[in-house]
Amino acid sequence: MRVHPNPLALFPARTGEGDLYRVVQGDSLDLLSRLPPECIDLVFADPPYHLSNGGFTCQSGRRAPVDKGKWDASRGLAEDHAFQRRWLEEVQRILKPTGTVWVSGTHHVIFSIGFAMQELGFHILNTITWYKPNAAPNLACRYFTHSTEFLIWASPRKRQPLAHTFHYAEMKRENGGKQMRDVWSFEGNEEFAFPLPGGPTMMWTIPTPARNEKALGRHPTQKPLALLDRIIRCSSDPGAIVLDPFCGSGTTGVAAVALGRRFIGIDAEAEYVDLSLRRIRAELEAQRSRGAA
Ligand SMILES: C[S@@+](CC[C@H](N)C(=O)[O-])C[C@H]1O[C@@H](n2cnc3c(N)ncnc32)[C@H](O)[C@@H]1O
Repeated sequence: MRVHPNPLALFPARTGEGDLYRVVQGDSLDLLSRLPPECIDLVFADPPYHLSNGGFTCQSGRRAPVDKGKWDASRGLAEDHAFQRRWLEEVQRILKPTGTVWVSGTHHVIFSIGFAMQELGFHILNTITWYKPNAAPNLACRYFTHSTEFLIWASPRKRQPLAHTFHYAEMKRENGGKQMRDVWSFEGNEEFAFPLPGGPTMMWTIPTPARNEKALGRHPTQKPLALLDRIIRCSSDPGAIVLDPFCGSGTTGVAAVALGRRFIGIDAEAEYVDLSLRRIRAELEAQRSRGAA
């Protein structure tokens, strides 16, 4: 039987806390390549969408340039695709056979991700549609308002029998006893409201992050905690190691430690590493004060 080394131990203790988490600044392509094979239980990745290229969007009712940061600029189709393929190749290598990867994206990037997964021989399990009820209006009025994002869920390799972790019964229970579908709803985000069978909330309808999720700082593409909460619960066990190679504001880390999982986050920008650390520490402090009360 393969003995899986502890990947948290590869990163300096000062980048996190004990055996709970690490958030490391650096280039994912470099840092992922330092991890041993088959040591990670779950990867969530929200990679650059390569869409900050002089376009416009609507922010608070006003026309605003799409500029998430230099990290989001396109280097052309071929190079952008090569980048997505390179980090996915590392993810395929570091995932345990029971592990899976989730990748979120809009049409700007999701086809490239899906194609790279097919090229590399991943087993695509689902494509989840996440509906954003509070999406920004479309200013050009030349096409429909974009209000969805997609999540590809995949095993690193095609295997029979299937080896991946999936808490099917828990998801079914949350869905009022009916199989949960691949369109998700968290209508209104009343502390992660769950869908009712046959009701209007059969979809992954999760509003963009609530104001209180940005209390410790802002990130231009922050994901809502409700989304990561479900992803981590349905596809990992308590104590599992969850890795996010583009962790941004640390949403994956906050959800992971809240659910008793361990976490490794990587981001190229120091300010986002700091924000992730602040948010994860605040979550752990809140847990400890609840425990002490
Ligand atoms: C789409 S954002 C992730 C947002 C995150 N899901 C959240 O909830 O805040 C992508 C992040 O990837 C980081 N990034 C871009 N290229 C990178 C690279 N090569 N290595 C590590 N991080 C990178 C950016 O700094 C950015 O914070």
